[in-house]
Amino acid sequence: MGFTINDKVTWVGKIDWELRNFHGYEYSVDRGSSYNSYLIRDEKTVLIDTVWKPFAKEFVENLKKEVDLNEIDYIVMNHGEIDHSGALPELMQEIPDTPIYCTANGIKSIKGHFHEDWNFIPVKTGDTLNIGQNDLVFVEARMLHWPDSMFTYMTNDNILFSNDAFGQHYASEYMYNDLVDPDELYSEAMKYYANILNPFSRLVTRKIEEVVKLDIPIDMICPSHGIIWRKDPLQIVEQYMKWAQDYQEDQITIIYDTMWDGTRRMAEALAEGIKEADDRVNIKLFNTSKTDKNNVITEIFKSKAVLLGSPTVNGSILTSMAAIADLASGLKFKNKKGAAFGTYGWSGESIKILTQHLEDAGFEVVNQGIRELWNPDESALDRCREFGRKFVQEL
Ligand code: FEO
Repeated sequence: MGFTINDKVTWVGKIDWELRNFHGYEYSVDRGSSYNSYLIRDEKTVLIDTVWKPFAKEFVENLKKEVDLNEIDYIVMNHGEIDHSGALPELMQEIPDTPIYCTANGIKSIKGHFHEDWNFIPVKTGDTLNIGQNDLVFVEARMLHWPDSMFTYMTNDNILFSNDAFGQHYASEYMYNDLVDPDELYSEAMKYYANILNPFSRLVTRKIEEVVKLDIPIDMICPSHGIIWRKDPLQIVEQYMKWAQDYQEDQITIIYDTMWDGTRRMAEALAEGIKEADDRVNIKLFNTSKTDKNNVITEIFKSKAVLLGSPTVNGSILTSMAAIADLASGLKFKNKKGAAFGTYGWSGESIKILTQHLEDAGFEVVNQGIRELWNPDESALDRCREFGRKFVQEL
């Protein structure tokens, strides 16, 4: 059921505690999520965004308990992706002529999903819709994270409806940043940024600078997933500015897969060497076949350098490492260094292939990597320790 945000705005979305995978199976969800839809009652009544398709009927039934659907004057679709537009067909069966305000690209994406010629009104940055005491001001937010994304700003109440930007896949019955565990919230917001928004970091910076220049007061940020930022709402904007500027912590992450433990033992010896040379750097090891890929990506996001490891198999690398390397490449990390390692028995191509992946992903390759024949003996592990020590010095 909905809850009141202020005298004009009511949350009418869906909290999805059961969600464990998003974007098909591309994004793991540990703590559920929500699809936030907002009902504004001024002199005009406005619905901002809907919910994911499986909850369409439930959404419309609940919405009817809040408002006579025929009283909805305008629908604003900040973004056409199915997790926000999924209930439109169910809703538009009831109020087929209601105008839908969205960007020109939003019309393309919504039509592309539903093949319906609803009453679309295209808007662009600066367009304003008066709804009574308040105006809604539209701000296109291209590639945050789709070409059709936009923000809607409500004047007087100073609410920014930011859609996916500033969101998190995080379910809570409390829904406000001052009422939830701040560490959980931070960690989910960072995972969301690293896995969804990172490729568009330059645009994130520009968009935030553009909004700052507008010099508009923002008392609340209402995203389309997760928690509403009402206490010190600009904290997430400041955090995005940091994350968008080639973010890194003092962390080295060793990411590998292994067949008969040889590459794992190399990874551990590399960590020992790194620690001997720098006992303050945060060192983390992840076996990609045993670790959630999105969590590995978040750790890469936090790292100043990574070591990628795989034994050579079939003249190539293990599939879990190939998947992570490809995912990292698409996420366009910047200002990070790396090198490769791995065992081999015969041909030994893995470190060349991993090095190529690092280059393709935009990492600065520090050296040619290290490979060891068969399962490493003590002298091989010593070479790995030495490699780890030098690796830190070369950063
Ligand atoms: Fe939450 Fe891009 O959809």
